Amino acid sequence: MSANMTPAPASVGKPVTIRDLQAKKDQGQKIVATTAYDVLFGRLVDAAGVDMVLVGDSLGMVIAGLDSTKKVTLDQMIWHCAAVRRGVRRAMLIFDMPWMTYQVSAAEAVRNAGRALAETNATAVKLEGAGEASLHAVRACVDAGIPVMGHIGFTPQSDTALSGARVQGREEAVADQLMKDAVALQDAGCFATVLELMPTELSHNISAALRIPTIGIGAGAGCDGQILVLPDLIGLNEGFKPKFLKRYADVAGIVKTAVTEYADDVRTGRYPDDSTSFT
Ligand code: KIV
Repeated sequence: MSANMTPAPASVGKPVTIRDLQAKKDQGQKIVATTAYDVLFGRLVDAAGVDMVLVGDSLGMVIAGLDSTKKVTLDQMIWHCAAVRRGVRRAMLIFDMPWMTYQVSAAEAVRNAGRALAETNATAVKLEGAGEASLHAVRACVDAGIPVMGHIGFTPQSDTALSGARVQGREEAVADQLMKDAVALQDAGCFATVLELMPTELSHNISAALRIPTIGIGAGAGCDGQILVLPDLIGLNEGFKPKFLKRYADVAGIVKTAVTEYADDVRTGRYPDDSTSFT
């Protein structure tokens, strides 16, 4: 195989559709989502059978080491999403719209979302918030035939306004507003919405009130599905361990052990040996 060929992913089956996700909610089956940022992990999570893969702007923090998702550009997101696309065949691939690519005007939102889907072959976009700018963007994109997933609760692009990553909706007024926001996103045409960092009772009530699926992160078991940031889930992002996170592996440990052994082999002359050298 030549260096620039992408091997076919192991996953089989028909690509997940919006109807499939809705059917899961209607039948009480949980939806499973993770993020991914490159072809290798895209291929792995698809092969593991997740329903949705989000190329999140969280890549700014977990992949690039930035201090905020707001520094991620549309071009960077497109580059990563196109890479993930080469690994994902079955799961629904979702493109996370970066900060200020959809808030300025509905026309700009449609132009940017359209470009994102055309250049990455993702199925849908996600955008944050349910203020007027976000709702205009959702309506305009949906009207133009672009499927949109919403995102409310803690919305990282508003981290400064929300005074950091904090649970949203503990106060009754905020909880009421989040319920209204969720309904507004559904009415604007979203096919699903992320609920991030909120009390279980609130996310349960929102999920029960909505027709469309809710995908929780740090929002308890009452949501119709769950999403985790992949490097957090697999223990690659060592320093990050919020209460809601369950680590399913210690990939950071595996990588460090492997590289330490490799370094030792190189330094002691055990690698390369005859079996890994050419005659
Ligand atoms: O950017 C991201 O990874 C996200 C998820 C946390 C939902 O928005």
